[in-house]
Amino acid sequence: MDLGLSNKSVIVTAGSKGLGYATALEFAKEGAHVTIASRDAERIQSAKAAIEKETGNKQIEAVVCDMTDHQAILDLVEGVVKRHGTVDVLVNNSGGPKAGRFEDLTDEDFQTAFELNLLSFVRTIRAVLPYMKQQRSGHILNIASSSIKEPIASLLLSNTFRTGLVGLSKTLSQEFAPSNILINTIGPGRIATDRVRHLDEVIAKERQLDLGFIQKEQEARIPIGRYGQPDELARIAVFLCSEANTYMTGQALLVDGGMVKAL
Ligand SMILES: NC(=O)c1ccc[n+]([C@@H]2O[C@H](COP(=O)([O-])OP(=O)(O)OC[C@H]3O[C@@H](n4cnc5c(N)ncnc54)[C@H](OP(=O)(O)O)[C@@H]3O)[C@@H](O)[C@H]2O)c1
Repeated sequence: MDLGLSNKSVIVTAGSKGLGYATALEFAKEGAHVTIASRDAERIQSAKAAIEKETGNKQIEAVVCDMTDHQAILDLVEGVVKRHGTVDVLVNNSGGPKAGRFEDLTDEDFQTAFELNLLSFVRTIRAVLPYMKQQRSGHILNIASSSIKEPIASLLLSNTFRTGLVGLSKTLSQEFAPSNILINTIGPGRIATDRVRHLDEVIAKERQLDLGFIQKEQEARIPIGRYGQPDELARIAVFLCSEANTYMTGQALLVDGGMVKAL
């Protein structure tokens, strides 16, 4: 299948490691012009170097952009448009919110998670829309969490703002479908990244158990019997944002090895 991504202008935010990095790598393999962004200059530069080395694609740009910094988002998109004329694909990704239950969290924690996990996505979408509307095509993919289908007890902030993101995404998918802009959301279950390891460590500490025990317990909840690997999610992300997807929009899909039992 031709994914039609060669020379397309792609932005992947929070792309220095984990799911964002894996997704950027798959786009690079398809010959896209990929701009990756994250907070840490050294990390994002070494991600660029690693992608170039693995794929031979020299059209990779690394940009420092904190998703909670509105001006940085505007500069990111403006820079991409200056280099490539437009944005064909936006993969909206960010750092995960603080773990915790209701009584662990302050107003400030809610405000921070709102800015990191919801408002940032509003801002990136608003910044790329004029270009996608003008060319009457575009793909936007939001990386959320399995909490969009089933709340996670220790991740109240995710449960709160990721579901808001799905509401936003569904509404925008309808509003901008006439401009042929397709907007979808992926909810990862447990994909083996630093974030998931950190969350497992938090649970292990809370329950005073071994990290290995917690990981085995988590794996037992997954019908496929293991954590996913970042590239397993990335290939789906790339398909959804490719020319091969011309008709699926407004969907929220889990990539979770069957973990969530809800329909
Ligand atoms: N892995 C999973 O199974 C899973 C499950 C559910 C939800 N998620 C969500 O998916 C997203 C990606 O997770 P991951 O597992 O790939 O995490 P990860 O391996 O910890 O990577 C996080 C990435 O986000 C960047 N980042 C963090 N804060 C940022 C900010 N304020 N602005 C810009 N970039 C930022 C980091 O780079 P810098 O440090 O350089 O900024 C890094 O590239 C997170 O929101 C996470 O909560 C993941």
